[in-house]
Amino acid sequence: MSSTGLQSTPTPGTAPVSALLLPGRSSYNGPTMTTHPNAIQANATQGTATPTHVHLETFGCQMNEYDSELVRALMQQNGFVFTSEQERADVILMNTCAIRENAHNKVYTHLSELKKIKRQRPLVVGVLGCMAQNLKDELTEIQPLVDVLAGPDSYRQLPMLIRTALRAQEDGLEAKGLAVDLSEYETYHDVVPDRRDGVNAWIAIMRGCDNFCSFCVVPYTRGRERSRDAEGIILEAHQIAAQGFKQITLLGQNVNSYRFDDWDFARLIRAVADVPGIERVRFTSPHPKDFPLPLLEAVVSHPHICKQIHLPLQSGSDRILGLMNRGYTISEYRALVDRIRSLRSDIVLSTDIICGFAGERDEDFEATYRLIEEVRFHSAFIFKYSERKHTIAARKFPDDVSEAVKTARVTRLFDLQRTIAYARNREYLHATLPVLVEGDAKRSAAQGMGKSDGNITVIWDKQAVPSHPGALLSLAIYDASSTTLYATLPPAP
Ligand code: SAH
Ligand code: SF4
Ligand code: F3S
Repeated sequence: MSSTGLQSTPTPGTAPVSALLLPGRSSYNGPTMTTHPNAIQANATQGTATPTHVHLETFGCQMNEYDSELVRALMQQNGFVFTSEQERADVILMNTCAIRENAHNKVYTHLSELKKIKRQRPLVVGVLGCMAQNLKDELTEIQPLVDVLAGPDSYRQLPMLIRTALRAQEDGLEAKGLAVDLSEYETYHDVVPDRRDGVNAWIAIMRGCDNFCSFCVVPYTRGRERSRDAEGIILEAHQIAAQGFKQITLLGQNVNSYRFDDWDFARLIRAVADVPGIERVRFTSPHPKDFPLPLLEAVVSHPHICKQIHLPLQSGSDRILGLMNRGYTISEYRALVDRIRSLRSDIVLSTDIICGFAGERDEDFEATYRLIEEVRFHSAFIFKYSERKHTIAARKFPDDVSEAVKTARVTRLFDLQRTIAYARNREYLHATLPVLVEGDAKRSAAQGMGKSDGNITVIWDKQAVPSHPGALLSLAIYDASSTTLYATLPPAP
């Protein structure tokens, strides 16, 4: 598989290049990508080439992490060099998230820090990802700070947009590059991401979302759902294995709706899990409304597919699920959990919950509380509802639960979930589990860190357990908290 940059023929049907140069202090009509296809800037006095250094920060979900790997690949093919040091960078890019208000705020905080740097030295600032669409409307407010905006389907244009902005800056002009068209076809199928993790490799098997859950901005920021070709995915999985990665995580906003020719998701995940050298395959997220039995059978029976399912519930009230446009009822969700557990009782389930959605009454919240108590997820991401521009909920349902009530509900659920997670994790005491080593623990380099098959964090003392990233160890669990299992070598037989 080859990866191509801007010189490639665009994918059929991809939205046309829309490198709009918006008027700033003065307009810019400088040379375009076609005349100068490389970002290496000739240093006229010494005849050497000075690469342009780029710093990239990523916010948001795994899909954005993956997209940042694509961005690095596309930019590197065009001569840009990435640096982890912001101070060295000629270009600072932010790959942004728009899912909740606090994600927005993080971006604005970061932008105001960049404003200070930009006052002191030449700097090109680019905003990528899910907030680029929203920022388009606010461009007048963020001028002259942001030079380039590129949405999730426009990364092939990024090298050209950045180069144009750099040239404009050199000439003392102000040029804005804007590429925020959403595509019905772009899957970056021919771009090999610049992966740096070494153990886990993400593959986006699809992009966009057509579900239009009423609270969610993703269908507006990432556009229509489209699946990437199955053969390309499997070929890439072989290449990933050859590079020494041990785990692949397949990504999509609803992997259950993956379709490409006669491939569905159950067939695809089995094919990926069959790739020699890949020890573990994970996926996120399946939608509870259309969880197919063949997928469940694959999870249950394939030795390389992890026994772990993230099953976003959102609410335990049928009335609220209806308003959210989730497409399932509580009894259907419960039946799905029962079916999963009847086939394999050791499957680890996790979920997402939103507290304080528009119109959520005390009794709706109590129903959520009871369902969490009943299902006993191993882990749950619990969010306060945050109204998002453009969404169905923002247009139709007033955000009428007070901040204080949202906070109280989140806190109660959080406390409940912590108690459940603690009890769940203590069920592993004295068990011996396979653990895939990821690296050092966050808190101390004297401790190693990895994940159980069920995706629970496992920590050990490196002196007692020699390990290296990518190793699959068999470890005995001797202690457990609500978030972590503590392990050591099992006693000799
Ligand atoms: N496609 C995934 C969800 C991606 S967003 C899925 O459906 O499983 C991850 C989570 O963010 C969602 O499951 C939801 O719980 C939360 N979320 C999305 N929009 C939100 C909003 N407006 N306010 C609060 N939480 C939200
Ligand atoms: Fe958002 Fe729903 Fe799509 Fe998930 S399935 S990304 S929650 S619209
Ligand atoms: Fe992900 Fe945030 Fe976009 S959760 S899909 S980066 S809005």
